[in-house]
Amino acid sequence: MTCTFVFILRFQFQGSGLQRSLPILHDTINRITNDFNGLPLCFKIANLGCSSGPNTFFVVTNIIDRVHDICLENNCQVPQFQVILNDLFENEFNTVFRLKPLPAFHSKLKEGKGNKCGSCFVSAIPGSFYGGLFPNESIHLFHSSYAIHWLSQVPQGLKNNKLNICMAKTSPTNVFEAYRKQFDKDFTKFLAMRSQETVSGGRMILTLAGRSITDPTSKDCCAIWELLAKSLDMIKEWPTPGINTAYFIRAIIEPMMAAHFGNTIMDVLFEKYQEHVVDHLATNKGMNYNLVISLIKR
Ligand SMILES: C[S@@+](CC[C@H](N)C(=O)[O-])C[C@H]1O[C@@H](n2cnc3c(N)ncnc32)[C@H](O)[C@@H]1O
Repeated sequence: MTCTFVFILRFQFQGSGLQRSLPILHDTINRITNDFNGLPLCFKIANLGCSSGPNTFFVVTNIIDRVHDICLENNCQVPQFQVILNDLFENEFNTVFRLKPLPAFHSKLKEGKGNKCGSCFVSAIPGSFYGGLFPNESIHLFHSSYAIHWLSQVPQGLKNNKLNICMAKTSPTNVFEAYRKQFDKDFTKFLAMRSQETVSGGRMILTLAGRSITDPTSKDCCAIWELLAKSLDMIKEWPTPGINTAYFIRAIIEPMMAAHFGNTIMDVLFEKYQEHVVDHLATNKGMNYNLVISLIKR
């Protein structure tokens, strides 16, 4: 796949990266429509690492809305949509299908569109996105947000990364190299798989947490995760209320922390984390950097 754009979004911790990435998403859909010289009869969208929370359908709804607008502007037939959700086998797919998100998604789709609403078929494919998930040349648009920072395995050789839970300012250089190597390996595999599965002219948008400079020890990358490591030294005192930043970071990291430390400590951990973030923001600007990468299959 060929990279067409890399955008760096800079926003305050309280902001939402996904919300800010919508103009890029809209631009990508416009380009797909141009490249295909119209829309396919069935537009196939896959959301990789979809989770089971409020963001599961957030971007998909926006994609479908944009396609509807394009069809209205051009007075053409709205396509059918096939939406395929993917996450690891352990994901709460039952929550997505049985409880709120799916019915809410369907009723939101119909809002204001009446009988012009294209039919939408939602299904799920559990499994790792580091392997093959779809038939060759079958997907028009891949989307994945805040998921490819999950490596396929813990990098080798982290034993001397004492008291840290990931890369930190105090980590020895071999630790940074180990993370870089594992990410290179995983991301190369991820791109190779998606390249096979995307139709020619199809696109992929990836949103992920990043940093403003190449130095992996820079504050805008490490600081917020170092506070999480500090929060693990807890349960001695009870927490006080904190701020939205902790919710944002919790959405990104909680499943990974829960898999390692168990669900029972998550509330206390993130309450403690809120306190650390409040202290941190009292003396630091609290900027957040996200990368949005747009790719095309030639
Ligand atoms: C932080 S959540 C992001 C959820 C959602 N996309 C969002 O933007 O809020 C990351 C999700 O990626 C999933 N994930 C991690 N590694 C994965 C893999 N190899 N294959 C599929 N999903 C994966 C996790 O299970 C988790 O649900």
